[in-house]
Amino acid sequence: MVLRIVKYGDPVLEAKAEPISEFGTPELKQLVEDMFETMYANKGIGLAAPQVALSQRLTVIDPSAGEDPNARLVLINPEILVKEGSQIGEEGCLSIPGFREDVKRAYKVRLRAQNVDGEFFETDGEELLARAMQHEIDHLNGVLFLSHLSILKRDLIRRKIRKLVKAGEWE
Ligand code: NI
Repeated sequence: MVLRIVKYGDPVLEAKAEPISEFGTPELKQLVEDMFETMYANKGIGLAAPQVALSQRLTVIDPSAGEDPNARLVLINPEILVKEGSQIGEEGCLSIPGFREDVKRAYKVRLRAQNVDGEFFETDGEELLARAMQHEIDHLNGVLFLSHLSILKRDLIRRKIRKLVKAGEWE
């Protein structure tokens, strides 16, 4: 089922999400499937639970955007262990549609997370995958990519969004 994605302005996007403690349940597995479906339907490469109005530490990532079934990654209660190097690249967010800006991120990250059955694993990513991991884990801490921009750029985007809200074009 495709879920509704909440947009910038909804407080759930700026709240710190709660750890998940119940694993292996049909509800959790269904939520993960629904999140992938929602992400693909919106042509995203990452989606975090707060974006579907659930304040839980869960995110799905697929840098291949559905092309490669092996690229699907589910991260529950993820923690970044190591960050290395840096990269600057364009970033967007399904909760802030229509806005893309250059964001500086670590080039490579190593993280620890749990899978749907609660098993811990470590994995790493670089380039686009590392960018998606950092963007999505930020979501679980209530941080949006706007926070990584200069105050000037951030305020400009906020003003444009306020206009869209007034015009009823930000639902
Ligand atoms: Ni996002």
